[in-house]
Amino acid sequence: MTDRVLTVTELTKHFDGLPAVDGTSFEVREHEVVSIIGPNGSGKTTTLNLLSGLLRPQHGTVVFDGTDITGRLPDALAAIGLTRTFQNGRVFGTMSIDDNVTVGLTPKLRAARPLARLRRIPVLRWIPLLAETVVALVRPPSVRREERETAQTVTGQLERFGDRLLPRRSQEAATLSYANRRRTEIARALAPSPRLLLLDEPTAGMNPAETDEVMHQLLALKRDGQTMLLVEHKLDLVMTVSDRVIVMDHGVIIAEGTPAEVQADPAVIEAYLGSRRGRAVADIAPSGATDEGDHE
Ligand SMILES: Nc1ncnc2c1ncn2[C@@H]1O[C@H](COP(=O)(O)OP(=O)(O)OP(=O)(O)O)[C@@H](O)[C@H]1O
Ligand SMILES: [Mg+2]
Repeated sequence: MTDRVLTVTELTKHFDGLPAVDGTSFEVREHEVVSIIGPNGSGKTTTLNLLSGLLRPQHGTVVFDGTDITGRLPDALAAIGLTRTFQNGRVFGTMSIDDNVTVGLTPKLRAARPLARLRRIPVLRWIPLLAETVVALVRPPSVRREERETAQTVTGQLERFGDRLLPRRSQEAATLSYANRRRTEIARALAPSPRLLLLDEPTAGMNPAETDEVMHQLLALKRDGQTMLLVEHKLDLVMTVSDRVIVMDHGVIIAEGTPAEVQADPAVIEAYLGSRRGRAVADIAPSGATDEGDHE
């Protein structure tokens, strides 16, 4: 296994002829926390969408753990250890917290999903579906064992968030506060122990106390060695948790370096402030965030 978890080369995506991501190249090494920052519309989310298989690049390659994964679909990527959260939060509203987090483990299930590989062959898809139905009805010991392991993993993930999620684990996600829905989504992405976790503005819409809590959870993950690629507008958080920061503007990378290097880079100050020079990047108020809090 290489120390380079992700190598992105010349990644390009145009929408209607306009470049959203325009030939970006960067890498993420094992145990690193790399953040992508940049003004609204600079191509941060499109980059994550290209890496996680939601979009196919027009040009460029994505190599994950030594394997070219360009254009692979999200569930195939989750199965090999690349998971993500979404900018606007995505949970299944009518499902419990437990079930939402369990979904994150589905690509890794073996006993409950026999012959899952055949799903990729359209004319043979009925075979794994039939096999899954049979094991769901019969529930052989291997499936029951896997269910117990899954339940333990889910509990472990919920424990990360103290008493935020555990007491509500049977509640439908739609009844949760905004912050708890976002926590559920993070727990789901972490459940399969990803080799690389992509986070798109995990604190968007959170108030300062909630943001601080997430920051400490990210720091705890970092201490555990979790490799992360983070998109975030809240620069205090970015500068605290990141080993390296990539700055995008108009689809291209305009700067890259340690938090201190990036903060001092004139091109970065220019991208954020236009002609209004003189303020440090860390002083810039985060955009895209509201002051919504927990409303339990
Ligand atoms: N599906 C799409 N169809 C057309 N244009 C798109 C699509 N997705 C993104 N874009 C455009 O691509 C550009 C980059 O968008 P992107 O969402 O990647 O920006 P971002 O850096 O994540 O911005 P923000 O900080 O506001 O989330 C924008 O001009 C956006 O309008
Ligand atoms: Mg975005």
